Amino acid sequence: MQKPKGTYDVYGDLGKQIQYIEKVIGAMMEKYHYEYVRTPIFESKELFHRGVGDSSDIVTKETYDFQDRAGREMTLRPEGTAGVVRSFIENKLYGRATLPVKTWYYGPMFRYERPQAGRYREFYQFGVEVFGSNDPLIDAEIISIPVNIYRFLGLKGIKVKINSLGDEESRTAYKKALKEYFKPYVNELCEDCKVRFEKNPLRMLDCKVDHEKEIMKNAPTILSYLNKESEEHFKHLQDYLKAMEIPFEVDETIVRGLDYYTHTVFEVEADIKEFGSQKVLCGGGRYNQLVETLGGPSTCGVGFAMGMERLLSALEKENITFKEESLDCYLFALSENEKEYVAYLSNLLRMNGFSVTMDYNQKSFKANFKQVERLNPKFVLIIGEEEVKDKKITIKNNHTKKEEKIKEEHLIEYLDEEIEM
Ligand code: HAM
Repeated sequence: MQKPKGTYDVYGDLGKQIQYIEKVIGAMMEKYHYEYVRTPIFESKELFHRGVGDSSDIVTKETYDFQDRAGREMTLRPEGTAGVVRSFIENKLYGRATLPVKTWYYGPMFRYERPQAGRYREFYQFGVEVFGSNDPLIDAEIISIPVNIYRFLGLKGIKVKINSLGDEESRTAYKKALKEYFKPYVNELCEDCKVRFEKNPLRMLDCKVDHEKEIMKNAPTILSYLNKESEEHFKHLQDYLKAMEIPFEVDETIVRGLDYYTHTVFEVEADIKEFGSQKVLCGGGRYNQLVETLGGPSTCGVGFAMGMERLLSALEKENITFKEESLDCYLFALSENEKEYVAYLSNLLRMNGFSVTMDYNQKSFKANFKQVERLNPKFVLIIGEEEVKDKKITIKNNHTKKEEKIKEEHLIEYLDEEIEM
């Protein structure tokens, strides 16, 4: 049996690396004062069609759709935003006194894409969504989150790119200009772009087939179509980013692959040699109409999501690893007769905050010390007949090699002191 195409298993060092990053993300979100949310992995198909948009590749070509046993049309989530917005509306979080509502999530997403380095069919995203503020200060805060996480992890090769898609009025003017510009060339474009020309000409700029063509390169760009308000929003965002000492560049080619964006859009790219084509580490932006589109009261939103797999490759390329030295105690009994006491002690130690593993197979003394060599615990606790009778435990400090007999009632205190030394 083999894993499905485009998926992967986690074990060994990869597991350690992921768990460390997850801890950093959780701690960072506490510092930013964001609340954790979780939504279902499958939702109604309609949510993604209305939410992510009917002109995006993600919805038209890449979703895992299925019917449940009662014939309902369901979809495995291809991204997190639509589900979080649905939950925000359904649970009436817009009624809270403390707006904006700042949320974060983490979990698997599914897209039926052609698998390649950095592109999977099941992948993990960490994302945030903030509701109820149109202040560009929030946009800047959102951009600072991935930047600070990458910085904290020690990643050097990153590049922040921002753009603005403006408000409805600006985008309508821009779409009109795009249509006029592309009209004479429609027949030269790919089949998808012909549809995009009708449905949403902005999507044409994101085309993977036509993007190298001269007509694409010379297309009008959005910033000259921004109205006053949109221009102001974009200017303030840049001022805040400068104040936060976050280097960025304005890149007018960034339009993003989902339909819901307004005003700010951004991506953080890996700027690492030989990283490969899937170098967008994270992306996001503002979506001031999405809550309303999905049936909620008019509420602004902004967010981003980062792919865990691309972050892991970036860390690997920069040789950054996190190895947590975590095993405090290894316990073994000299015979079957002492195993109950070992069971008792392991529980006592774990409940007092020590990490513990032990000999489960009644190995020989020599085999146990071979295991100690491999696991490298801080302490080895050896339990024989005498230890059980006197409730005095033989403890070997595996690093200093010091060996002592300690009474059970002083055990925790002793280990705490030894660890501090
Ligand atoms: P997205 O750009 O589609 O945005 O995905 C965000 C990130 O997820 C990408 O930058 C990439 O790191 C990762 N990613 C996407 N597809 C794959 C894949 N097939 N394999 C591996 N990694 C992948 C969104 O999903 C939006 N929901 C972001 C957002 C949140 N915008 C506002 N709020």
